[in-house]
Amino acid sequence: MADSFDVVVIGGGPAGYPAAIRAAQNKLSVACIDEWKNLDGTLAFGGTCLNAGCIPSKALLESSELLHRAQHEFAAHGIKAAGVSVDVAQMQKRKAGIVKTMTQGILALFKAAGVTALQGHGKLLPGRKVEFTAADGTRRELTAKNVILASGSTPMELKSAPFDGKRIIDSWGALEIDAVPKKLGVIGGGVIGLELGSVWRRLGAEVVVLEALPDFLAVADQQLAKEALRHFKKQGLDVRLGAKVTGAKVSGDSVQVTYTDAKGEQSLTVDKLVVSIGRRPFTKDLLADGTGVQLDERGFIKVDDDCRTNAEGIWAVGDAVRGPMLAHKGKEEGVSVADRIAGKYAHVNYKTVPSVIYTAPEIAWVGLTEEQVKASGRAYKVGMFPFLASGRARAMEQAQGFAKLIAAQDDDEILGVHVIGPMAGELIAEAVLAMEYSASSEDLQRTIHAHPTLSEAIHEAALAADKRAIDSINK
Ligand code: FAD
Ligand code: NAI
Repeated sequence: MADSFDVVVIGGGPAGYPAAIRAAQNKLSVACIDEWKNLDGTLAFGGTCLNAGCIPSKALLESSELLHRAQHEFAAHGIKAAGVSVDVAQMQKRKAGIVKTMTQGILALFKAAGVTALQGHGKLLPGRKVEFTAADGTRRELTAKNVILASGSTPMELKSAPFDGKRIIDSWGALEIDAVPKKLGVIGGGVIGLELGSVWRRLGAEVVVLEALPDFLAVADQQLAKEALRHFKKQGLDVRLGAKVTGAKVSGDSVQVTYTDAKGEQSLTVDKLVVSIGRRPFTKDLLADGTGVQLDERGFIKVDDDCRTNAEGIWAVGDAVRGPMLAHKGKEEGVSVADRIAGKYAHVNYKTVPSVIYTAPEIAWVGLTEEQVKASGRAYKVGMFPFLASGRARAMEQAQGFAKLIAAQDDDEILGVHVIGPMAGELIAEAVLAMEYSASSEDLQRTIHAHPTLSEAIHEAALAADKRAIDSINK
């Protein structure tokens, strides 16, 4: 096997594996190295996203949502579904099957594209060389014209509540729980806390979420965040804001958590405690001395707007570099770097990276929040459409939430779109496309949307921005 490549990618997650495939499509010789080891010891490509993130979490969200509907919505449809119960082992088996199929799919894609898949550890050496250590310990030195670092991220640990892997667990642990806990504590009311908290809540656990900040979902549009909190509370998620954890002690089968909030010192006893307070870049044993690659003060690999590091021919993409830690952001960066290496034009528009939280109702947005637009000083208008007025949402028995569109007062440019409601994550794609093409709200208003579909909510929100909504009252 050749030890010299045009491109060597270290990391085969959603940032690294698309980079490798695109490089091969660009007729470059490419190897992709990944060391991911699953709990059963098997090696797999796909990184956090496919093995322990996006895909397994969505599998469990889907299963638990089906249960919730059977228990709480079927009756309204006139369907009697008495005695519905949960088989966690089967739910986990289904999830594991999906993960296996998807991760093995990457090997098939590599084979078809002509990417050399190397399973083991990769370390960048000076002079665009990479040391590859296979799982059996054998070493090879690869030379590359370009190296793409895509080493991803890892969960942050809380000093006052260190992981023990059994009772105090990270998000991967929370995806592998094999029996519904009676009481689950979650530290961090962010994306993971809400998604995985929702899974176990729907399956029957009492779930308490301790969030340090006084505002709920501080990164989101606050009108949307308020609506979300209302729904989560109704579902029984016990979200406690302004809660600063001071300690967590495992004793026997439970964890005693202490925290302070506006009322003073508090305590909480749970069966398991998930710590989901964010993730940090993973660069352990990635860079030998003398490579010239620099890290920033938070440990991210320093890159310019085009993902170039300080070292010639060395690029970095995905969670290991600045920007939102999202699979689709990493994918776009990986593909763009593979195109740049091949001398092609590439551009990642960071202003149109969508965010989706796969709870029920689902939450999705792109662009600026109303708070950010207000702070920018630009005059703006807002159009809202409630799903209560959507025939399709009503037919689905999911008439919750709203679509909100913010456009500039002067030239009608769409500045942000925020959706909370059924299939929000799918609906936001239209807004992303519109913003990518610098559409105005009028462009959306003049676009025909099929009836009855949920997409009409985006259409009506655009119309409402000019007080021309047809299916809701203009305010
Ligand atoms: P990773 O996916 O972390 O992949 C990096 C890979 O590099 C790993 O396989 C690692 O083993 C390998 N590696 C690292 N160093 C080396 C080395 N030296 N040698 C060899 N291999 C190495 N994002 C979304 O967009 N949508 C979601 O729905 C979503 N859900 C999530 C749910 C959970 C529970 C979690 C934890 C995350 C979720 N994310 C989601 C975030 C998403 O998983 C990450 O943004 C994404 O995986 C980052 O991709 P990456 O390729 O940069 O890194
Ligand atoms: P997050 O950044 O989304 O949320 C962390 C939350 O924890 C924040 O609300 C923060 O204020 C809070 N927090 C921080 N320190 C705390 C403390 N000591 N006590 C209590 N609360 C504290 O991070 P999370 O949920 O861990 O997810 C990591 C990343 O993974 C996200 O940033 C996201 O990019 C990605 N992800 C994306 C998903 C999606 O796209 N649907 C799903 C899951 C994860």
